[in-house]
Amino acid sequence: MIDIILGGSSAQVLTIKVGRLLKTPVLLPEIKRFPDGEKYVRITEDISGKTVAFIQSFHHQPDDFLMEYFLIVDTLKDLGAKKVLGVVPYFAYARQDERFKPGEAISFKIVTKLIEEVGTDEIYTIDTHLHRVEKLSEIFHIPAHNLTAVPLLAKYVKKNFKLTDPIVIGPDEEAEQWAKVAAKELEAEYDVLEKERLGPSEVRIKTREVDVKNRDVVIVDDIISTGGTMVEAIKMLKEHGAKNIIATCTHPILVKNALTKIYQAGALAVIGTDTVPSSVSFVSVASVIAEALR
Ligand code: R5P
Repeated sequence: MIDIILGGSSAQVLTIKVGRLLKTPVLLPEIKRFPDGEKYVRITEDISGKTVAFIQSFHHQPDDFLMEYFLIVDTLKDLGAKKVLGVVPYFAYARQDERFKPGEAISFKIVTKLIEEVGTDEIYTIDTHLHRVEKLSEIFHIPAHNLTAVPLLAKYVKKNFKLTDPIVIGPDEEAEQWAKVAAKELEAEYDVLEKERLGPSEVRIKTREVDVKNRDVVIVDDIISTGGTMVEAIKMLKEHGAKNIIATCTHPILVKNALTKIYQAGALAVIGTDTVPSSVSFVSVASVIAEALR
């Protein structure tokens, strides 16, 4: 039973929504910045002996929000919280899950280590980018739950678009896990494309036969960051005769002009969730979090 839900500065609206669904008190800690750039946090209520869920999403300023996470969770434990459940809707650094070049930091491993070190008792994430690390339990030593928002995204598409002979497409092989779930919800087929990453914002989608001619396509991915993946996937699908293309993702990071590029490539719509607050966050993950914490 959760006694109190705390919202970090990256996820305050989401925290309030979760609090309402669970009928649990919400606390927004005092967070300020010193003139030299250091962060200051203060827990303004007595949380001693209480089970606290702390929601903090590591989007856009991952280092900033991570630091806040460390300061808050350590303080909660220091003030006598019975249990701290960390809820991280968007888990940054998961893509650097390996030493690709000699000397690189394995960031995913380091971040998880620090999250445990400050006293997190249990962790909840949503559609974390799991690739070479296949399960959170391989990297965390505390109970770790990777929830999914994909059924909600698919339901949103089903409700708001009249699809003709739909097919769900994952833009790369890793996206099969999400394409499969969306396809089930939409009662449609799915397929995945083959992607080669050329650089941080450049990808190549290999051309191959995909059965999309005159069909509406729902692309499903975990993250839209620079939009490079979606743009290349849309171009390839259009060349193969796809009709309407709806680009969906759990985490609409949308750096710089990613959204414009995706629309320019020919997307009918772009749909994301509020793990990352954005202009396309039409789907709220509040119910997914509330259900998991209940
Ligand atoms: C990587 O494999 C992920 O699943 C996404 O496809 C990727 O992060 C999207 O990034 P971008 O929008 O920069 O292509």
